[in-house]
Amino acid sequence: PASDPDLVERARAAKAALGDQVFVLGHHYQRDEVIRFADVTGDSFKLAREAAARPEAPYIVFCGVHFMAESADILTAGHQAVVLPDLAAGCSMADMATFDQVEECWEVLEDMGIADDVVPVTYMNSSADIKAFVGRHGGVVCTSSNARRALDWAYAKGSKVLFLPDQHLGRNTAVLEMGLALDDCVVYNPHRPDGGLTPEQFRDARMLLWRGHCSVHGRFSKASVDDMRARVPDVNILVHPECKHEVVVEADRVGSTEYIIKTLDAAPAGSSWAIGTELNLVRRLAGAHPDKNVMFLDRAVCFCSTMNRIDLPHLVWSLESLARGEVVNRIQVDEETAHYAKVALDQMLALP
Ligand code: 13P
Ligand code: SF4
Repeated sequence: PASDPDLVERARAAKAALGDQVFVLGHHYQRDEVIRFADVTGDSFKLAREAAARPEAPYIVFCGVHFMAESADILTAGHQAVVLPDLAAGCSMADMATFDQVEECWEVLEDMGIADDVVPVTYMNSSADIKAFVGRHGGVVCTSSNARRALDWAYAKGSKVLFLPDQHLGRNTAVLEMGLALDDCVVYNPHRPDGGLTPEQFRDARMLLWRGHCSVHGRFSKASVDDMRARVPDVNILVHPECKHEVVVEADRVGSTEYIIKTLDAAPAGSSWAIGTELNLVRRLAGAHPDKNVMFLDRAVCFCSTMNRIDLPHLVWSLESLARGEVVNRIQVDEETAHYAKVALDQMLALP
């Protein structure tokens, strides 16, 4: 639906009034009505790198979800006020690993006598205190665009990896990019005693996967791929690595949101693409490539409801508040957590 023209004008006016004082970052899953006001758009990795790109701007408006805004606050060392236009824009995957659960898991690894062999790696999609935990224990943050490099780094340090919180990104990267066997990966369930694993499983596993997932990407299945290939025989299946292994193994290409965009940009006219990721992005790609047949991989629609919480009214409210000098919805990570989380984030940014 078309955006309310009054709100569009108000957003434009507030942003113009703020000028260089505000830097607006937008993740690729944001709504069209929001992304058009972003100074920089990107995947999680690009946005982490860009967060500190405008140190002269006192305000960063982060159009994305909570863990991304936290990471921007950490990477700008609290020198800029990071604003999340709606505080309810969380991430259900990030919520699947709490600090207490991860501490308890580490105690289990210590009891099993293997903690010294384990390097923790956390997906960007995790809270700041999980990133700090990983920083304290010699690990690294990764995103969907550098998971392979992060795991190479981790396996050069230790024989096992604890991968938080997305089991699918961990498994897909380990098995499809690094050649580990599916049996090398076991799933640690934080809701079961000892993670639901036997001492032998802890001993033999090379990859301990946290039992977390993205419910948006979890909708795609092998049946969605089969159905699409039956309907469009020459289709290219392009999916995000948060999809289940059964989907990724059937896909033609796999990568982050930025990779998905670049792949479509480079695709020849007339080619067909079924995309397994969030719907705002897929619809935008379909609009941007009228000469290609761009489809959503599943028949059911699939927005990320928390990404969608950032809408034009919330953006207008944050920008107008800032233009009055009122900082609303600031995301601020406490100093100690930020210090250790930054160790793990800096390690990611330093990966070769
Ligand atoms: P990327 O943009 O890094 O591919 O991540 C997708 C995602 O789910 C962000 O929440
Ligand atoms: Fe979290 Fe999935 Fe939404 Fe990304 S798409 S923010 S992983 S719920």
